[in-house]
Amino acid sequence: MDQTATVRLTIDGKEIRVPENMTILDAARENGIRIPTLCHHPALSNWGGCRICVVEVDKAPRLVASCVMPVREGMEVVTNNQRILESRRTILEFLFAERNHYCMFCAQSGDCELQSLAYELGMDHLTVPPSFKEFPVDATNPFMALDHNRCILCGRCVRACKELAGNSVLNYQNRGARTLICKDLNEPTEESNCDASGVCVQVCPTGAMYERLRPHQMVLGKKGPLRVIQTRCPVCGLLCETQCSVRNENLIRIEGLLSTSRPDRGQLCRKGRFEPMLNRGKRILEPMVRRADNQMHPTTWEDALERLSAGLLEAKQKRAGILGLVSSDCCCEEMWLMRELLKEGMGGHVGLLERQAIIPIQQALKEMERTFLGLRECSWVHLAQADFILLVGADPEESHPLLASMIRRAAMERGASVASMGRSPALSSCKTLHVGVDPRDLSLGVKALLAGAIQAAGSSDPITRWRRILSEVGPVSSEAPLTGLSQELKNGADEIALGFMRSLSPLIVAGGELGSSGDNSALRRLMFLALLKGLLPQSALRLILLKTGGNAASAMRLNCLEIPAEMESRGAAACLVLLGEDQVRDLNGAVPQSDFLAVIGSHVPQELFGKAQVVLPRPLWLEQGGNYLSLDGHEVGYVSAVLSPPAGVRRSWETLLAVAGRTGVRGLPGELELLKARTMATMNLS
Ligand code: SF4
Ligand code: SF4
Ligand code: FES
Repeated sequence: MDQTATVRLTIDGKEIRVPENMTILDAARENGIRIPTLCHHPALSNWGGCRICVVEVDKAPRLVASCVMPVREGMEVVTNNQRILESRRTILEFLFAERNHYCMFCAQSGDCELQSLAYELGMDHLTVPPSFKEFPVDATNPFMALDHNRCILCGRCVRACKELAGNSVLNYQNRGARTLICKDLNEPTEESNCDASGVCVQVCPTGAMYERLRPHQMVLGKKGPLRVIQTRCPVCGLLCETQCSVRNENLIRIEGLLSTSRPDRGQLCRKGRFEPMLNRGKRILEPMVRRADNQMHPTTWEDALERLSAGLLEAKQKRAGILGLVSSDCCCEEMWLMRELLKEGMGGHVGLLERQAIIPIQQALKEMERTFLGLRECSWVHLAQADFILLVGADPEESHPLLASMIRRAAMERGASVASMGRSPALSSCKTLHVGVDPRDLSLGVKALLAGAIQAAGSSDPITRWRRILSEVGPVSSEAPLTGLSQELKNGADEIALGFMRSLSPLIVAGGELGSSGDNSALRRLMFLALLKGLLPQSALRLILLKTGGNAASAMRLNCLEIPAEMESRGAAACLVLLGEDQVRDLNGAVPQSDFLAVIGSHVPQELFGKAQVVLPRPLWLEQGGNYLSLDGHEVGYVSAVLSPPAGVRRSWETLLAVAGRTGVRGLPGELELLKARTMATMNLS
């Protein structure tokens, strides 16, 4: 039975019953009664600053702000009468008069809450003279700008920066009519600690904070219906839920589904919000083949598919090596099809372009699973409960900015301690106990952490047990020599280890620097360190492994990772097929030499284009759709297409199935739903 205490009140004559502690605004909205607002945002704390939401309570002479006034038993609320309307209109007029709100020159015109409110309240002219001064515009960031001239000082951005992004970069400066929003100590965006997540832009009700890339597509009078599509972002493996606005096949913006009840608060980072909108250079829009003059020429799909299939069949006939390389931004279905076509169908091999960074992780996990059956990484959402977060060789601000924001919030809101070991402090705007260790020495650094943790644990019973396990599986013990580390580093490691062991719910976040030593010893040791504090539910280690790219976990699950050593040592592949989007690059020599190279990609860099015999266009993830496995392997999410591929660009499974048909590989599903089901079944995710 629901025990929540409720109160009874009337709003505009309608009797309602709502939980006590609710605000009048929420009670009204829950019952379908509209009250206009400006400074209020459902994902932010209530502020009561603008007073647009005023209502009359019990016929009192003073109007109250409904967004901060709690309901009480017997209350009589009126949300709309002449007095209220005049009050709202006066406030609105002053907001318009105090800054430059000539909408026809504003990037946000047509998509602005302030402008809509003026229409709603019938404010078609000012009865007070404009009093605005000219304020600066901060356009130092390539994605978003801050135009103080359009700011109504509603404070939404300031609260969002603190409460959602955990950044507290935004604040107020000056007083009265000269009050401005500022970043840090009045720095331009690019010199401040702003991480450009754009959450401030999403909550800003005016054109003061605006996206620089496509705002003109929203302007009033633009033809074509606005479509809003909910999907997921596949860029880094967190699979954030997003909402994409599209008009006339133009992606206008990508927003997060802001909510205080989610561990990530529904934000997005700059990679998910802004980067997909960037112009990434020349797009491959038609098939191309290399001809006798050694130049690439546009051709028909039939011709290009024939050339690729002939290359594969020749390599198969000669029993020479066939190799497929997928990039980590491919969806599960693409990886599965490459595997079925080239590995199962043609006897070749399929690996991951970013394998150098992922193989040590895979090896360490496998080793761990062999020793402790059923162990797995924990889900990144556990960051929301951790009281001690240890970052090792990780740079989440660069690789996974949303996790960086969750860590900052954990420190700010719950007092969680943050420590890091690696090249430089992992978080720039968060107090961190940092021990600087060159990435090549991280294995030694982690050894010192493990030794310190075992020492800190003393002789308590569970630790004695773990020490026995540790000695059985052969890792370091506290007595092992820690040569090569300075006393200062050892002291720092001991301090971190002590904090780690004393905490109740610690988490380790391991990043890309750990692979720099070329082996997995640092990772193995980190896993043992995590084990010292026991497991989370579902046999999950207190460890989050940050991986390059969005779908590397699928490549691990599908065994599309390693390639044979002779192919790795360049020159052994007769036919090489590359598939991917942004990541199709020769990362640190990850693309071996081959006699025949075919690239299926949306953008193909010159170093590959110059070597390829066949280039086939591939849609962007925004145009194709597919399943993606989260970074930690805990969740699979379907990323729906929000745009149609450009004319002449085929979906990559159509391309791969056409190649299968020409090379005699049978038994592949010809229909998308079947393809998804077979892929999920192979990955054990159905
Ligand atoms: S910049 Fe936008 S969100 Fe921030 S205070 Fe000004 S109007 Fe409000
Ligand atoms: S955190 Fe990752 S999944 Fe979320 S918006 Fe950013 S890139 Fe996309
Ligand atoms: S919306 Fe209530 S005071 Fe601004």
